[in-house]
Amino acid sequence: MNILGIESSCDETAAAVVTRPGRVLSSVVASQMDRHQVYGGVVPELAARSHLEALRPVLTAAVAESGLGWGDLDAVAVTQGPGLSSSLLMGMGAARALAERLSVPLIPVHHMEGHLLSFFLSPGAPKPENACPMLVLLVTGGHTALIRMDGPGHYAVLGRSIDDAAGEALDKGARLLGLAYPGGPEIERLAEEGNAGAVAFPKGQPDSEAACQRGGALPFSFSGLKTALRYYREANPDTPAADVAASYQSAVMGALAARADQALKREDGILGLACVGGVAKNRFLRGALEEVTRRHGVALHTVPMDYCTDNAAMIALVPLLRDVPAASSPPAVHPNLQLRGLILR
Ligand code: KG4
Ligand code: ZN
Repeated sequence: MNILGIESSCDETAAAVVTRPGRVLSSVVASQMDRHQVYGGVVPELAARSHLEALRPVLTAAVAESGLGWGDLDAVAVTQGPGLSSSLLMGMGAARALAERLSVPLIPVHHMEGHLLSFFLSPGAPKPENACPMLVLLVTGGHTALIRMDGPGHYAVLGRSIDDAAGEALDKGARLLGLAYPGGPEIERLAEEGNAGAVAFPKGQPDSEAACQRGGALPFSFSGLKTALRYYREANPDTPAADVAASYQSAVMGALAARADQALKREDGILGLACVGGVAKNRFLRGALEEVTRRHGVALHTVPMDYCTDNAAMIALVPLLRDVPAASSPPAVHPNLQLRGLILR
C-alpha cells in the first residue's frame, strides 16, 4: 500500500510517499516562509499563488525520490482542513486531478490528525497497540490541545486553549520583541543567550482544582501572557531582549509542561506522552517534558524535526494507521474543520 500525501494548508507546499506500516519513501517540503517574512505573517493570496507554482515540482520530486512510479501509487491522501481556504483548494485541486488520472481513491485527511499521529513516523516508534493509551500534546501555530489517544481514531480532548495557541503566543511575542516570523525559532535562538529567571511572567493558565480531577477541563490560556510581555517591554525597555525572550519562552513551555503533568496525574493507564506540531521542535519544551515523563515513569515520544512542522508524510500516514473512508464524490475543503470533528469516541 503506497500512499501519496499532499499538504497545502498554510505556507508549506508538501508531498510525500509513505508505505505500510508507516515507512517514509520520500518527503518533500517547499517552504514559502521567505516570501511571507517581509509581511510579518502569512498572506493568503501570496500563499495560494506560491502553492500553484510549487505543487507540480514538489509532487514530481516526491514520486521520483520514492523510487516508485506514478502507477505504483494506491491512493492519494490530501489535507481537507483546517487551513487557509485558497491554499487548501490548491492542494485539493491537484489531489483530485491526480486521483482521477491514476484511478485511485482520494482520501481527505484532517490536518490535526496528521500532526497527532506524526510521531509514528519516527524510525524507532512503537506500534500504536504498544504505545496506547497515551497523551498527545498538540502544539502548532493555530492549535494547542492535550489529547488522550486510545488508538488511531480514538481521541478525547482533555483540554485546549481558550484563546491563543502556544505557537501564536510565540509568533506574537516575537513580533513585540522585534523578531522575524515565525517567532518560535527566533525566540528559541535569542533565549539561548538569556536568563529564563530574569522576568516573572504569569504562568499562562488558570490553575483550577478541577483540572486535577478526572473529567475536569485542562484549559490553556496564552493571551494574558502576551499582554504581560507588551506591558513589561513598555515599562522596562532596558532589560536585555535575550532575558525577556528566555523568560517568555520559559512561561509558555512551563504552562504546557504543567498541564501535561496534571493530565498524567489524573488519567489512568497512560503509557507515554508525545509532543507534536511546530512548537514540538523547541528544545526547552522537550527538556521540560523529559523531566515530567521521567517523574511519571512513562515514555516520551518525540517527532523527528522534519515532521514537527507541516509536511505531507504525516498526511499520508493517517490512512495507513486507520481506515479513513475515501471520498465518494469530489470533496470540498473545510477551512474551519474543527478538532471536534476528530473526536471519534
Ligand atoms: O505545525 P506548524 O508547522 O503549523 C501549523 O499547523 O500551525 O507550526 C508552526 C508553529 C509556529 O507558531 C512557529 O513559531 C512554531 O510552530 N515553531 C516553534 C519552533 N519552530 C516552529 N516554536 C518554538 N520553537 C521552535 N523551534
Ligand atoms: Zn500544522
